[in-house]
Amino acid sequence: MHHASFTLDPAFSIGAVDPRLFGSFVEHLGRCVYTGVHEPGHPSADEHGLRRDVLELVRELGVTVVRYPGGNFVSGHRWEDGVGPHRRVRLEPAWRSIETNAFGLGEFAAWAREAGVEPMMAVNLGTRGVQEACDLLEYANHPGGTHLSDLRAEHGAAEPYGIRLWCLGNEMDGSWQIGHRPAADYGRLASATARAMRMIDPGLELVVCGSSHHDMPTFGAWEAEVLEAAYDDVDHVSLHAYYREEDEDPASFLASGSAMEAFIEDVVATCDHVRAKLKRPKRINLSFDEWNVWYMRPVEEEARPWEHAPRLLENVYSLTDAVAVGGMLIALLRHADRVKIACQAQLVNVIAPIMTEPGGPAWRQTIFYPFAQAARYGRGEVLRVEPVSPVAETAKYGEAPLLHATAVRDGESGTITVFAVNRALDAPMELTVDVRALNAPGGAPGGLRVLSHEVLADDDRHAENTRENPDRVRPRTLDGAGAATLDGGRLRAVLPPLSWNVIRLGS
Ligand code: AHR
Repeated sequence: MHHASFTLDPAFSIGAVDPRLFGSFVEHLGRCVYTGVHEPGHPSADEHGLRRDVLELVRELGVTVVRYPGGNFVSGHRWEDGVGPHRRVRLEPAWRSIETNAFGLGEFAAWAREAGVEPMMAVNLGTRGVQEACDLLEYANHPGGTHLSDLRAEHGAAEPYGIRLWCLGNEMDGSWQIGHRPAADYGRLASATARAMRMIDPGLELVVCGSSHHDMPTFGAWEAEVLEAAYDDVDHVSLHAYYREEDEDPASFLASGSAMEAFIEDVVATCDHVRAKLKRPKRINLSFDEWNVWYMRPVEEEARPWEHAPRLLENVYSLTDAVAVGGMLIALLRHADRVKIACQAQLVNVIAPIMTEPGGPAWRQTIFYPFAQAARYGRGEVLRVEPVSPVAETAKYGEAPLLHATAVRDGESGTITVFAVNRALDAPMELTVDVRALNAPGGAPGGLRVLSHEVLADDDRHAENTRENPDRVRPRTLDGAGAATLDGGRLRAVLPPLSWNVIRLGS
């Protein structure tokens, strides 16, 4: 048995959770859109061809904001092809696919309304520039009386879509990105685009592209140069990260959440360095708008025939992947003071928590569950958690603590949720939490008790949910040996080996 502990005190708060931390991503990639969210003729489809079975799962997942339409796709995207009665079929080079444009901005806006999510739109700064971004914004957000806003009304949307959140391109430092460019060029383009867009709609929130990932050779320098050009014009800088288990090395993989924290801290430091240099009061926040586990397969990199909605990036996730994803959610919450937006990539079929079959069912992957629980209970103030934990030596990241944890306090109800991952595969972990300060005046009225202890664990770390066996892995409520108990201001729980735990305390 491992042993770990920490103390919770409402006086030590990291900050309020922005609900947009529980975002997702829909890209025109593989079957995310076509036969994912959109499948006219499917038994569950509504009159717009939106799959109702998928919408139900999206609502259950608790997604708050959805980034669209890409990703790499956006850097060759012509938004006009996907609106109105005449859709153009195009070659889509980013993912070597045939794009029918049957699903476009109007369908996405309708889907977002049904799903109850805020849309987050990306503009094409790969093959396009300021003018096209302004045209798209005018079409989407201007009330009427101009060519483009009247066109939207003609297309059936008299009311503007009112999209507040916009990304200025995608991964513009990546050699794979259509129209990628050096930092100084991109910084100038992002600044000019942001200024012009704000002339049309001053209330926008804008995200500038950071590096495509932490290991890019220009990481850090790219952020600094781009922000020096665009600091006054943007609100957030983007971060992207994908993790996977390599070489049968779960210890390194399970430390991904800690790697993600180090990445966030590096970007915060860079933003604040530019702030100091430019002597600005404003702070740039972080939009972690692509994160997940992703096992790249050779077929995705090879030349393939041009196909519509090919099966790409359809990763099937294991229990180990779900626990790693839990750690990533903990990492985001632990930095809620600066990470204001985060999008798990992606939502359906493509490295996704939800899977579908054309004409068939939709089901939850293992990674669905930690996301859904964090989105549901991770609302309020994040409390500072400094665990005392045994460590494991990892090949990739050196020493990493075996306990990864955070806690969120809902100010209204006084309910506290502890999210904790036991990264050890070999043994359970006894967790002790000193919660005496939570019982102090202003804490939970009438004293605290354990409301529930839910756990995601399995005897087989490779267990997966599939079409044939969609409920193989799901959370269960612990009650009995090992379940959380509270006595004398001390919470005690036994976290099973390789597990994601959600412990709720309230009155
Ligand atoms: O999410 C899959 C791809 O990963 C996105 O299109 C791109 O932005 C990133 O490299």
